[in-house]
Amino acid sequence: FTSAAINIQRSPSFSKLNSDDIGYFKSMLGDKNVVQDEDRLSAANVDWMRKYKGSSQLLLLPRNTEEVSKILHHCNSRHLAIVPQGGNTGLVGGSVPVYDEVIISLASMDQIISLDKVNGILICEAGCILENLNSFLANEGFIMPLDLGAKGSCQIGGNVSTNAGGLHFIRYGSLHGNILGLEVVLADGTVLDMLGTLRKDNTGYDLKHLFIGSEGSLGIVTKVSILTPPKLLSTNLALLACKDFLSCQKLLLEAKRELGEAISAFEFMDSDAMDMVLAHMDGARNPFPSSSYNFYVLIETTGSDESYDKAKLEAFLLRSMEGGLISDGAIAQDINQASSFWQIREKLMFRKAMCWQGMSEATVKAGAVYKYDLSLPVEKLYDIVEEMRPRLGEKAKVVGYGHLGDGNLHLNIITKQYDNNILAQIEPFVYEWTSTHRGSISAEHGLGLMKADKIHYSKSPETVQLMASIKKLLDPSGILNPYKVLPQSMLQ
Ligand code: FAD
Ligand code: MLT
Ligand code: ZN
Repeated sequence: FTSAAINIQRSPSFSKLNSDDIGYFKSMLGDKNVVQDEDRLSAANVDWMRKYKGSSQLLLLPRNTEEVSKILHHCNSRHLAIVPQGGNTGLVGGSVPVYDEVIISLASMDQIISLDKVNGILICEAGCILENLNSFLANEGFIMPLDLGAKGSCQIGGNVSTNAGGLHFIRYGSLHGNILGLEVVLADGTVLDMLGTLRKDNTGYDLKHLFIGSEGSLGIVTKVSILTPPKLLSTNLALLACKDFLSCQKLLLEAKRELGEAISAFEFMDSDAMDMVLAHMDGARNPFPSSSYNFYVLIETTGSDESYDKAKLEAFLLRSMEGGLISDGAIAQDINQASSFWQIREKLMFRKAMCWQGMSEATVKAGAVYKYDLSLPVEKLYDIVEEMRPRLGEKAKVVGYGHLGDGNLHLNIITKQYDNNILAQIEPFVYEWTSTHRGSISAEHGLGLMKADKIHYSKSPETVQLMASIKKLLDPSGILNPYKVLPQSMLQ
């Protein structure tokens, strides 16, 4: 186990759990929903990357909003810090405790409440797993407006709290547009009913937006009302190879012009990323065995007319090939081929984290991945990957991939183990570079613990100050997900 070094002291304003607290939680939730078992706690104390590790002694599993409210009311009056946890797939250390915070898992709150089949509006509890919601909706002719590699574990409440982007953002946009309403429990236990179902509602401040993307620092999301698009009949997917990044950029522009609203995903990865997937994915084949290319692009289109949609994509690819933007390419011929194309992209993340482990010889060491999730102007997006390679030399593998259609680069730097000297060569350089190019240091993963004290690279001092004031107003004792999102020094 390797842990990222974090230089934050446990806040002295928080109490420590005592037997009266445990007794209260057991009387209210029942013994089995008050988890003190070591194995279950150790899984909940560690994040998905195995990079951040807390030492919580208690995990609570509320079954409804009222129980969440009672838990928070108690914790607030006792100054017990808490961390809300969804599927624990977050990538910035936001979902696990830093010290002994009580973990409040939403896993037992997984009921679908209603689906308005005329308007496509789904209301459900926050603990519903994204993939389960999608399967439920598919039977009713709808889909979730977001899709991500973690869909089998992440929860809609976690998605809302991180404002997750994902693979279909280019088509369906941000959760700030798709979430119609929320029910949220505030730090003192107040239940805020904002569970609207309207597309338009300009009656004062739209407070639900404060909670979308606030990473559990302002309240616990307990219910969600979400606009779901109709499930369209035809989906086409092409995996393409490009000789350089400029061709990828031009391809994006042409695709937007020619395929327009039909585009439902536009992803890219560099050849190092592709090689890594192929080397570590059982049964994976290079789709272009005879040649290796510098960049790969996945374009998905979704529409309502099978033959017309396919012909449109084929014609676009042919023109792009003739114009030299594409060096090679294939359209998935059936659903199996489509899922094998998607697997290359979705498995990238997982394989990357494991690869050094596979390579290490005598000693079994967990690999270390330094992940950066940057929003940048598309024309600058790959420059940082090319700057990092000579900067780090042989000791690190630098790969670039991401949601090119949304200007979102995932810059990943893989080393054998976490090392402060390597970190010092990466940070603050990456953040300064991003700030200089007026990008964002978090396109979609959030700030969590990893970037709580880096927020100033992307937000002005006045904005950060107002955020801190809002945090203090809603959570005066600072019990909600402490040490995350904002610099701790601003909240004392
Ligand atoms: P968690 O990880 O449990 O929590 C995330 C944050 O939200 C924490 O700060 C937590 O305290 C808070 N939180 C969770 N539930 C609640 C709640 N009910 N109320 C209040 N706060 C809450 N992210 C993307 O944006 N796009 C991607 O394409 C993408 N792909 C991924 C692929 C893989 C393989 C993995 C492992 C992760 C990926 N992620 C992606 C990151 C992650 O999946 C998302 O951030 C996801 O939205 C987190 O959901 P979760 O339920 O796992 O939340
Ligand atoms: C993705 O797009 O795959 C996710 O955001 C996770 C990652 O950064 O690898
Ligand atoms: Zn992503």
